[in-house]
Amino acid sequence: MSVQQENRFQAIISHAKEYGFVFPSSEIYDGLSAVYDYGPNGSELKKNIRDYWWKSMTQMHENIVGIDAAIFMHPTIWKASGHVDNFSDPMIDNKDSKKRYRVDHLIEAHAEKLAMEGKKEEEYALLKTMDELLAKEDYAGLKQLIEDNKITCSVSETSNWTDIRQFNLMFSTQIGAVAGEAETIYLRPETAQGIFVNFLNVQKTARLKIPFGIAQVGKAFRNEIVARQFIFRMREFEQMEMQFFIRPGTQKEWYEFWKEERLKWHLSLGIPKEKYQYHPHTKLAHYADAALDIEYEFPIGFKEVEGIHSRTDFDLSSHQKYSGKKLTYFDNEINQHYVPYVIETSIGLDRMFLLILSHSYDEEIITKEDGSKDSRVVMHIPEKLAPIKLAVLPLVKKDGLPEIARSIIAGCKPYFKCFYEEKDAIGKRYRRQDAIGTPFCVTVDHQTKEDNTVTLRYRDSMEQERIHIDAIKDKLLLRLLF
Ligand code: GAP
Repeated sequence: MSVQQENRFQAIISHAKEYGFVFPSSEIYDGLSAVYDYGPNGSELKKNIRDYWWKSMTQMHENIVGIDAAIFMHPTIWKASGHVDNFSDPMIDNKDSKKRYRVDHLIEAHAEKLAMEGKKEEEYALLKTMDELLAKEDYAGLKQLIEDNKITCSVSETSNWTDIRQFNLMFSTQIGAVAGEAETIYLRPETAQGIFVNFLNVQKTARLKIPFGIAQVGKAFRNEIVARQFIFRMREFEQMEMQFFIRPGTQKEWYEFWKEERLKWHLSLGIPKEKYQYHPHTKLAHYADAALDIEYEFPIGFKEVEGIHSRTDFDLSSHQKYSGKKLTYFDNEINQHYVPYVIETSIGLDRMFLLILSHSYDEEIITKEDGSKDSRVVMHIPEKLAPIKLAVLPLVKKDGLPEIARSIIAGCKPYFKCFYEEKDAIGKRYRRQDAIGTPFCVTVDHQTKEDNTVTLRYRDSMEQERIHIDAIKDKLLLRLLF
């Protein structure tokens, strides 16, 4: 990461805290590593992202329905899904500092350093060799690669490394009230399994025909080792996943469909296309026959925000085997019973939140009419997602202006979130709304009393226009519509 990128990332983190978007968890007890809380503006923004995804899946697609499965699930599910045996990452410890690293992250951080020194070819060669060794699960080769490149620990600055070992990322806990009778269960590391085990319940009750999808939003937990990139990699996070059930043999076309469809969803928020790229996987997860990441250019570089996975019939077949229950579908168009194949789209809600912060945060220098300079911090949050949509500001606290402002809010608040403020000069109040990304401000002044018009001010252009009070709600609703 360049100094400039690092500074921008730090500025976003500070801004998120100062304006009530994201707080470190348990802060008065010095925090809890890689766990975060969302404040008043953050919880609104997060909810709006969740709703935007949910609506795009379950309302805009007639053949996708939602569920809300429990976090606690039968422990055999994680055996069947492969997570007990395979959900681990290769780790290496530095013997001097005792610090543990995920091997790919350690090597990638070194590759980034090479890139910053202008050694592009060395960077490329290092990452290529790493990908090949990871695909072969050649841990001795990976350790050799770390040693050959003289990669050191950031704490001890030595290259005194242990051998590489696998480390399971699932959290476990106990269920059952009586000591000794307790059973170990896992906090789900992905929401997808709640969809697979409910596949037939949903298909039958919603009377769905293949192809169809089941969508879910919920918490997932992973004991991440390298967890120091703000909300990019957390130990408790939220996923928005959709499993699309299809006829075997059609997976390639549906994989292409969802790859395009999901990118379109991102672009529908007005985020520039050049900020995105596809990254096909070389090392496939245990359940996939094809997979790619949709990557976004965060201040920390291009990183995964969403995964598209062709999961074959791995999960349903495996649950069929472990549960002893049939999980087949009768396709009356071809008169056949089969275990459906699945294309999965999986996006991290917190990571999408960070994407929106990264896209939106801007420190602008403004040239005023008289030629003098001013500055503002503005969050260009997509209008539909903004925590507050409309701020209504009486120019002064008297002469009946607050009452008019309150009546505007009363008319608009059933439709979108509004905010009232009368303290400080109007310019200062505009700046505070810019900093939390409020797209529209309405100012009530003395002219309002004469002709029922107000000033509507747009956050991004800072342009202002005079409109009738009765036009406010519909004008905004048109822009905020899905
Ligand atoms: N069901 C498939 C699955 O879980 P994944 O690539 O491991 O696939 C999907 O995760 C998405 O979940 C990622 O693209 C990312 O956005 C989000 N995610 C994964 N681990 C995360 C973490 N530790 N913190 C925040 N988001 C995470």
